[in-house]
Amino acid sequence: MRFPIAVFDAYGTLFDVTAAARRAAAEPAGAALSGRWQGLATLWRDKQLQYTWLRAITGAHADFARVTAEALDYALEQLELADPALRTRLLKLYDELDAYPEVPATLAALKATGVRTAILSNGSPAMLEAAVASAGVGTMLDALLSVESAGVYKPDARVYDLVGAEFGCDRSEVLFVSSNGWDAAGARGYGFATAWVNRAGLPVDRLPWGPSFILPDLAPVPELVKGP
Ligand code: LAC
Repeated sequence: MRFPIAVFDAYGTLFDVTAAARRAAAEPAGAALSGRWQGLATLWRDKQLQYTWLRAITGAHADFARVTAEALDYALEQLELADPALRTRLLKLYDELDAYPEVPATLAALKATGVRTAILSNGSPAMLEAAVASAGVGTMLDALLSVESAGVYKPDARVYDLVGAEFGCDRSEVLFVSSNGWDAAGARGYGFATAWVNRAGLPVDRLPWGPSFILPDLAPVPELVKGP
């Protein structure tokens, strides 16, 4: 086994962060999002990530539930969509995001080969527990590792340290899987092998640490961890 431990980012990697806005737009109460949900999803996500980086750099940590709500408030105001009921609904849907279709089979295949699996995410413990329960994949994961244990966001090295603390492993034993290019870069700089899941066909980030592997989705991960 080339990588006995497979660690997954959560949002954007296992769970589709655009699903909250898309699902709200399909409901009668979300009519204002018709034709606009993609713009909202993109701005909400961009602001959410920017706020995590800025809070990490300045030492002003607040948990991901708060950052997610504050980013949503910004996005709704900028797009002139502010509405308390819509805000409440979007945040509820964020706790029940769709998993990408290949997620259950990928995690099941990893468990069948004895690979230890975890999520390592900016998400708070409650958010991660809600997401895995909603997706029905909780039993396929050995650990849900939240940045709340480190008190700082990715890509601070103290976050990636949580993997070694959990599994007592060397960095070289870990395949870290993320669809967020900056997260894959941070993990590669830390010393994990990385699989960047490039679902959208984006360019590689211009950072000092390129991905070890580039995948179109999660389905190749079980073969990848086995090695050649
Ligand atoms: C996470 C963010 C990066 O789950 O999507 O950590």
